[in-house]
Amino acid sequence: MPQQNQVFTEAVLTDAVTGIFATHGVPQADARRVAKCLVLADLRGVSSHGVSRVPIYLDRLRRGLVKAAPNMVLDRPMSVAARLDADNALGFVAATRAMAEAVDMARVHGMGMCAVRRSTHFGMAANYLLQATDAGMAAFVFTNASRAMPIWGGRAPFLGTSPFAFAAPAGERPVVLDMALSVVARGKVRRAAARGEPIPLGWALDADGNPTTDAQKGYEGVVLPLAGPKGSGLSLMMEIMAGVMSGSAFGGAVGNQYSDFDAPQDAGHVFLAFRPDLFLEPGHYETRIKELIRRAKDQPRAAGVEEIMMPGEIEARATLARRRDGIRLDGEDLRLLAQEAARAGVPLPQ
Ligand SMILES: NC(=O)c1ccc[n+]([C@@H]2O[C@H](COP(=O)([O-])OP(=O)(O)OC[C@H]3O[C@@H](n4cnc5c(N)ncnc54)[C@H](O)[C@@H]3O)[C@@H](O)[C@H]2O)c1
Repeated sequence: MPQQNQVFTEAVLTDAVTGIFATHGVPQADARRVAKCLVLADLRGVSSHGVSRVPIYLDRLRRGLVKAAPNMVLDRPMSVAARLDADNALGFVAATRAMAEAVDMARVHGMGMCAVRRSTHFGMAANYLLQATDAGMAAFVFTNASRAMPIWGGRAPFLGTSPFAFAAPAGERPVVLDMALSVVARGKVRRAAARGEPIPLGWALDADGNPTTDAQKGYEGVVLPLAGPKGSGLSLMMEIMAGVMSGSAFGGAVGNQYSDFDAPQDAGHVFLAFRPDLFLEPGHYETRIKELIRRAKDQPRAAGVEEIMMPGEIEARATLARRRDGIRLDGEDLRLLAQEAARAGVPLPQ
């Protein structure tokens, strides 16, 4: 039996999760990519999108709603535009392939955009931003998601909490903005509910439209959009880009991976990669982005603030700390992962 909490190294957790997905028929290279995406979320402190989600992805694989070995079809209607029919692949696999294609186009043409249809939940958007910045590209990632938030003025779930995601290379540490368009990611409400913890007022409404601090009631109701009509408007943009334009489901029709088990999710994504120095003399981009960061960090600080940080900086620091100290899993997350490992016959050493 696992202990109440255990600390894992990145390598051990990645190997275990790779093994678990591989025993479900996922090709080894894809299984490793899925594991790396999930473990990177835990390393970055985005544990709502880390290995805690392994059981639901496996459940959907076992039900045939996600294909372990999909027949993904990619074509390029234009030199800088590609589209990928993901054939209900694991979202991680489809997204990685699509961002690779966008980066390849950007290497040749300066920019590349790849839309994905018939995909599934792809986890933390930063996985694909970092894929682009590792290749020296700036990037946007758009996705739609199952309905969880009302459109501004409504009270029923309609829009996804779909993250807005942008990154720009900046030497050692890229600027990585990866933010759900709800006040918080719905995964955080789900996790609080699973742990029996309360949520702050203002995160969610219950099913009757009342503000609540009860995470379970909030999870059964709606999370609220970030900054009211502004977050609602950005999420609508995701529906247009990643839903209407990609050819996937849209307008509340993307399946919820936790509650819709009669059909695949049909989520859509768009990946845009481009050279950050497109409009500049060679070498000027690096100097200018570093100067921007320096000026931003040198701004006079508000009361109680010790340091001004760039988007993605907290996560980059968390990654360094967890690579050194290990990733702690506890409670239900640990129990369910250990259960899946045992079921798959894969060791999960501490
Ligand atoms: N696949 C999906 O359908 C889906 C849906 C929703 C959310 N998500 C994922 O959920 C994750 C969590 O999203 P979130 O909105 O809860 O993240 P968050 O609120 O923790 O962070 C949002 C952004 O703000 C930045 N930030 C936070 N504190 C900061 C500070 N003090 N100074 C400067 N920048 C700061 C972070 O670096 C990050 O870029 C994301 O990785 C997102 O991709 C995925």
